[in-house]
This record gives sequence, structure tokens and C-alpha cells, in this order.
Amino acid sequence: MDKKTTSSAIDVNDVENSTTFGSRLLKSEETVFNHNAWDHVEWDEEQEKYAQDQIQKHLNNPVPEEDQEQYYDKPAEYWNTFYTKNENRFFKDRHWLKLEFPELFETANADAGKKRVFEVGCGAGNTMFPLLEQSQNPDLYVYAADFSSTAVQVVQSNPDYDTTRSNAFVWDLASKDLPEMIEPGSLDIIVMIFVFSALAPEQWDQAIKNIHLMLKPGGLVLFRDYGRHDLAQLRFKEKRLLKENFYIRGDGTRVYFFTPQELDNLFAQSSQPPLFKIEQNAVDRRLLVNRSRKLKMYRVWLQGKFRKL
Ligand SMILES: C[S@@+](CC[C@H](N)C(=O)[O-])C[C@H]1O[C@@H](n2cnc3c(N)ncnc32)[C@H](O)[C@@H]1O
Repeated sequence: MDKKTTSSAIDVNDVENSTTFGSRLLKSEETVFNHNAWDHVEWDEEQEKYAQDQIQKHLNNPVPEEDQEQYYDKPAEYWNTFYTKNENRFFKDRHWLKLEFPELFETANADAGKKRVFEVGCGAGNTMFPLLEQSQNPDLYVYAADFSSTAVQVVQSNPDYDTTRSNAFVWDLASKDLPEMIEPGSLDIIVMIFVFSALAPEQWDQAIKNIHLMLKPGGLVLFRDYGRHDLAQLRFKEKRLLKENFYIRGDGTRVYFFTPQELDNLFAQSSQPPLFKIEQNAVDRRLLVNRSRKLKMYRVWLQGKFRKL
């Protein structure tokens, strides 16, 4: 299939004006196996029922209480094991990054001036490296942090790691302390891609406080993560659920599945005055098709742009 040329994210507050131009829309079920992927697919009754049944199964069979604590105790260790096993194979070519987050790449323009970007939960540096590779801006500096020291080693041992323009270090997003090298109120953009979902719900408030403190007034959070009832949630087996919508994968890493309403509550509604203005709160629903095995896979991702007030 051709590379996508437009965003697939539809803003939940502005469905009418979200562009579907350039999207591949499924008009007739008979053609579903004609392509590998479809955008904005409405779920049929069968898929809705499957989702409800799976969620009920999970709720009826959680991780036994006595086994739960280990996953709250040292979550970084499970990620260390993950990166020890996967090393740099986790590195992905994310062609969607530029499409979905053009604001990020504007910091790399030659005339953008002094810009500070922070990739939180950086893993192998899937945002930092493409951004620096494209950068024409001598005044762009990129921080990257992960609470897994193995992930940070993976970044630091990448031949493209450039300590004149970037700094990768260990830091826990839910920590009570900010990283010592980052001045409060100094960052233009914080990128959180598939990291917030790894936090336990009781850590969300601290994490949001931290990112709010580090951003400049008017600074931007670029957010992408798992949406409620994504395929990855529905296919969990028994004894994987820690709390509602919060699971443990086979390798011991944790994952939560959000709704747009929850993101709105967390970033905009939960404090008075609000910490962020929601500029985008969007759902990206995609049906991926395995044409040879005649399988249908319903993906749900959320995407947000939250501006510090
Ligand atoms: C699913 S991976 C995503 C990695 C990367 N952002 C990407 O999109 O490829 C989640 C990452 O978040 C990191 N992580 C999880 N909880 C974290 C926390 N509390 N503080 C910092 N990093 C965390 C994990 O170690 C892991 O590298």
C-alpha cells in the first residue's frame, strides 16, 4: 500500500472538520480484503460484542491479588529485560511522525531559533534520532529519558548519538523530582509516545505535574498512545488484568488503554485553573487486514496535542 499522506486521527471534539481527505475508507464490507488497511472504520455489531465479551472475561479473571505487587514494585526491571532481549531491533522507521506531528519538525527548521525538545519514555530513541537527523537548526537541543537504564544504553550506543546536540539519561516520569539537567519552564515540546500507558493510574497526576513544570508557558505536549478496546487490549488472555483497562503483558510490562474523555479530564479538567489547553484529542481507528489469512485487526490509537496554559 502507498505511504499515507494525511493524518488518520479524527478529533473527537471536531469530527466535522477533521479531514478524511486522502484516507482509505471502507465503503462496502465485500471489499474489505482488497487492501491491507482502512481508515476510520465503524465497528459492526459482531466486533462490538466481541469487545464487550473480552472485557468481561478479563474482569472475571484478573491477576491473582498475591501476584500483583511485583508489577508495581520495580516496573523498570521488566523494561530492562525487554531491551536486553530486543536491543536495537526495537528501532522503527516512523513515517507517520512527520505527518501527525509537524510541530515537532518545525523545531528542526534552520530559522526556528533556540528550541528544547524532550522525548520522555524514549526507548530506543524513535523520535529523537529522526528529528536530529532532519535538523537544520544549530540551536535545537534534544533530551531523551527513559526509566529503563538498558533503554538509555541502547540510545547512547547508537552511532548517531550526538552529545553536542542531545542528552539521553535515566529518569522516571512519575518521579517526585525533575531531571537535574532540565530547568523548570524551559522546554518547547515534550513528546510522549506509548509511555503514559505504562504508568499505573495512581502515577498519572505526578507525571502531568512534572511535564507541566518543565514546559515553557505555551509549550506543547505531543501525545500518542493506546485507545480503549484496541486489538492489543482485546486479545489479552485470562489473568492479565491488574485493574480495569490496565494489564500486564507476557513480559511483565504494563499497559493501560485510554479513552479521549480520560485524557481530557487528566490534562484539562482535573485542576482549576486547567494546566493545559487541548488543541487536539483525536482517535485513530484503523482496520488492518491480513489478506492471506483473512484476518481483521481493529486498531485504536489516541493522539493528543496539549498546550501549557
Ligand atoms: C512502549 S515503549 C515506547 C518507547 C518509545 N516511546 C517508542 O515509541 O518507541 C514504553 C517506554 O516507556 C518507558 N517507560 C515506562 N514507564 C516509564 C516511566 N515511568 N518513566 C520513564 N519511562 C518509562 C519504557 O521503559 C519504554 O521504553
